[in-house]
This record gives sequence, structure tokens and C-alpha cells, in this order.
Amino acid sequence: MHPQLEKLVNKIEDETLREKVVQFLENPTIEIDGKVYTGMPLDSSPAGLSRHHSYPGGFIEHVVATTEIALNLCNIVKRVYHGKVDEDLVISGAILHDIFKPLTYQVEENGTYGATPLAERLDHLTLMVSEMVRRGFPLDLIHIVCAHHGGEAGPIWPRTIEALVCHLADITDSRLNGEVLRAARYLSKEATGEEIEIVSSKEAFEIVHSKVVEGWDGVKKTVEKIRQIRLNI
Ligand SMILES: [Fe+2]
Ligand SMILES: [Fe+2]
Repeated sequence: MHPQLEKLVNKIEDETLREKVVQFLENPTIEIDGKVYTGMPLDSSPAGLSRHHSYPGGFIEHVVATTEIALNLCNIVKRVYHGKVDEDLVISGAILHDIFKPLTYQVEENGTYGATPLAERLDHLTLMVSEMVRRGFPLDLIHIVCAHHGGEAGPIWPRTIEALVCHLADITDSRLNGEVLRAARYLSKEATGEEIEIVSSKEAFEIVHSKVVEGWDGVKKTVEKIRQIRLNI
């Protein structure tokens, strides 16, 4: 298991729940009609096709960031608002919330990411809810996963504090990453005439930072440097 993921999983105190989450992470598959679907490896999968985390390793980054944000929100619920929140459910929900996304992606012949035939028929929420019911996960955890897109982009609004925390953490990280990717693509196009394909969050943050510090010249230099590094690989 990815070390950062393992560290977060180990924060789940309830042993039975932790074991169930570990089993899911080690075997993120679903059987439909006698066919077992296995997706891209979690470590190399993106977490989006284009809008956010759409590069190798994006999935792990998104899961780690979402879980960290969710844990910080738990602290706020407890320390600032004097509310109650079940952290085991929040950690498990944040870790599992997109666990079947890698199952819905494939690398196309031209190297870009695309949707699998399975993903054209069932979305990751439907797949995850079905499999979590089959694997006997608690209802309140299945609700977190089912509600993580909110009621506008998903089947149901969060109805528990734990589901709300995970939903907010998910959109916060998707926005944070997505906005920086979008800005990096835009800046590279404006500065060099050609949009750079972003293959890591580090590159995107570097391009945006160079604009802040050195202006358009900085962007040009950074984009050229990234292109040069890729040519030498
Ligand atoms: Fe999702
Ligand atoms: Fe997500």
C-alpha cells in the first residue's frame, strides 16, 4: 500500500472497520455478470480525466489531501463549534470516497486518459455504493460515499456531519488542484504560444508560482525548463 495512504488508514481506531478499509484498498475490484473489473493501479491512476488531478499519481494525492482537509475540519467541528464527529467514519469515508475512480479510467492509444466501457454504463458512485453494500460496510459510511458529490452533482445531499465534512473536503481539494492546473495551462499558453501538458501537480504549482514571483518571463523560463527536462528523459 502507498505509505501515505497506510499512515492515514492506521488512524482508524476501530479494528474491524480498519481491516475492511484495508481489504478494499488492497483489492479495489467489482464483479458484475461474472466478470471481475480491475482498474488502473491506485498508485499511478489520475483522479480526474481533465479537470483535477488528471496526471499519474493524482488519485493518491487527491485521497491524501481530501483526508487531511477532512481531519482538519473535524478539529474545527470539535474545538471551535463544540460539535461531535466520528473521525473513524470521516477517515474511512475520505479514503474510500473515490476508490472506484481508477476502475473507470484507461490509457488510450494516444496516451491520454479515457473512460472505460464500464464507466460509460455506471458512474463511480453507483459502483462504490453497490460494492460497499455487498462487502457489508456500515450504512453511515456508505452514505458518506453516496453523498460526497452533494445533491446537485450526486444522488443525495450529506445528511450527517461526517458526510458534510467529507463532501466539503472533496470539493475543496478538487477546486484547489483544478484551479492551479487550469491556471498553469493558461499561463503556459499565454507565455509560449503553446499549452503545456501538465503531468504533475509540482509542475503546475511551479508555473503559477513563477508568474507571481517573476511575471511572464518567469513563466516562460519555467515552461522551457520543464520542456527541456522532458526532452532529456
Ligand atoms: Fe467522486
Ligand atoms: Fe473526490
